[in-house]
This record gives sequence, structure tokens and C-alpha cells, in this order.
Amino acid sequence: MERVVSGIRSTGNLHLGNYFGAIRNFIKMQENHNCYFFIADYHSLTTHPNPKDLHSNVKQVLVEYLAAGLDPEKATLFIQSDVPEVAELNLLLSMNAYVGELERTASFKEKVRKNPNNVNAGLLTYPVLMAADILIHRATKVPVGKDQEQHLEMCRKYARRFNGMYKTEYFKAPEPWNFGDDLIKIPGLDGSGKMGKSEGNGVYLSDTPKKIRKKVMKAVTDAGPTEPNSPVTEPIQNLFTIMQVVSEPDTLTHFKEAYADCSIRYGDLKKQLADDIIKYIEPIYNRIQEISADEAYLQKVAKLGAEKARESAQKTIREVREIIGFKKF
Ligand code: TYM
Repeated sequence: MERVVSGIRSTGNLHLGNYFGAIRNFIKMQENHNCYFFIADYHSLTTHPNPKDLHSNVKQVLVEYLAAGLDPEKATLFIQSDVPEVAELNLLLSMNAYVGELERTASFKEKVRKNPNNVNAGLLTYPVLMAADILIHRATKVPVGKDQEQHLEMCRKYARRFNGMYKTEYFKAPEPWNFGDDLIKIPGLDGSGKMGKSEGNGVYLSDTPKKIRKKVMKAVTDAGPTEPNSPVTEPIQNLFTIMQVVSEPDTLTHFKEAYADCSIRYGDLKKQLADDIIKYIEPIYNRIQEISADEAYLQKVAKLGAEKARESAQKTIREVREIIGFKKF
């Protein structure tokens, strides 16, 4: 069975972008792939979370994974820091990762631009740790959103470099994956850019229906089309993009036609969009409330996942050490 790896950082509640970019694919793939889905808590350290919050951040993502439909009987669900072998592979891969290429990574440049006072080496080597996450389970498919495309390209590069350096075919270069073919980017409700955990522009899986309605009704729009068949402006295209994943195709067609003949009413568009988002999120929201109260179940899931993930990771580390030439006295 083909191996699949993906993860989400424990840096806040999961939003529609995480759901449609990543989790929806996880749920499909767990049926017929050997899946390893994890919570990237090592990666979350780049932003220096308060130690008091670290565990609850991890727990929140675990709860939301389960509430969204990830099944610990079908997929290995684990916490990144429960598998320290990943840190060893990170070190080994970093010997063939060049500082120049890491500095040119779009996500690194963006982080430096946004926060020039916290340019830590963890941010720089973020793609190396990500490659270690993937290669430690020798995955071939990685379900992610569009924003991870470059990181996946780097992972492929590191896999090939390792093979080239040690004259082996040990690692296969993994592919980014989305069932709808192209990787997707869910925009925020603020008129531009992507929905993000820290952007304050998202709809979260843990939002109540009332909150969702309020957020969607406040989404940025514009004055409306004044001439028939005008090009769709960015804020409205963003709402259409979200509609494309949550609504029936006919609904989207209806509003696109209304835009084209200038009869569209943004209030109706938003009301429909809120209803359709709620249809997705409400059942997940309800399960979040149930699961988060069940500490014993969460503990069991994390323990089982850690055992399975470590077994796979230990095998890779043993083999990689041998390829590199480490020998026991
Ligand atoms: P994170 O937590 O930033 O994002 C988790 C996943 O959600 C996707 N995503 C989106 N997809 C579509 N539209 C959006 N607006 C949107 N926002 C986020 C991301 O593409 C991602 O798939 N670096 C990873 C975590 C990670 C990882 C890995 C992933 C660490 N190691 C190994 C895969 C394999 C990240 O972006 O987390």
C-alpha cells in the first residue's frame, strides 16, 4: 500500500483552509493508503508558544482531527514530538540542505518580512524538518494545500540529493496531493490573501453556527458590478472560491450568473454561503464538544499512534544510518 504523510501545526484552531486543503484529503486517503497523519508541534516552536499552552494546542488539533473524521483504526495519528527519530533525520538531511536555497524559500522570506525580530534558525530549516517528517515514513504522497508546494519541491530535492550522495534509490521523491487535482488555496473573508490560523480572517471548525453566520455576513465585498459581464473582483471571487468547495454546483452557477447580469445581491450570496459552510461545520463542531471531554480516549489514540509511528521511523533511521556508514563497535 502506498504511504502517505501529512501534518498540521498546533498553532491554533483549524479553519476551512486546513479542512479543504488537507483534512478532506486525509479522510479519503485513510480508506486505501497507509497513512501517517500528525500534529506538527516541533514546527510550532518557531513562534515560541508559552509552555503552558503547548499541550492544549496539541490536544485541540488532535480533537479536531478526530471530530473531522480521521480514524485511528485506519490511519496512524500521532504527535510529531513523540517520534524523536524525526529530529535525527532532520539533522542528517540538513547536511545536504544549502543555506542559500533555504533563504530563498518564499515562506521564509515572508516570515522575515513580517517579523524581522524573530528570524530563528528553526524558521530557516523548516523545510528540512518537513522533509524529515515525510521521508521518515518513506511516503510517496503528501496531501497539502497550495501554500506547501515549494516545501514539497524541497523535500523532493533532499530525497534526490540523499540518493545521489550515497548512490542509492532509498528515498522516493514524494508528490504533493489533492483529489481535485490542483492543490487548493482557500481565501480569507477579508477580501484578499489566504485563510490563515493567525490572520483573523478564517472560519474555524470550532466556530458555532451563530459565529459563522456573523463572520460571513461581515466578509469584505464591494459596491457591486455596474456593467453586465464585468470581470469578477477579488473579494467576490474569494467568496465564489469558498462556495465552490462548500455549495452545490448549481448554487455557484446561480450567483455567477446573477453577477454577470448585475442582479446579484451580496446579502443573499453571503446568507447562502453561511448556510452551506454551517452544513459542513456543524457536525464537526458537535463532535469537537464530545471528543474534547474524553481524555482517556485521546490518550489512547496518541499512545497507539506514537507506537505505530515510532516503529516505522525506527526502521528508516536504522537503514539510513547503515547507508551513511555508521557502525556499532
Ligand atoms: P499548517 O498548519 O500551516 O497547514 C496545515 C495544512 O493546511 C493547508 N492550508 C490550506 N490549504 C488551503 N487553503 C488555505 N487557506 C490553507 N491554509 C493552510 C496547508 O497547505 C497544510 O496542508 N508545513 C505544514 C505542516 C507540516 C507538514 C509536514 C505537512 C509539517 N511537516 C510534512 C505535510 C508534510 C503546514 O503548512 O502546516
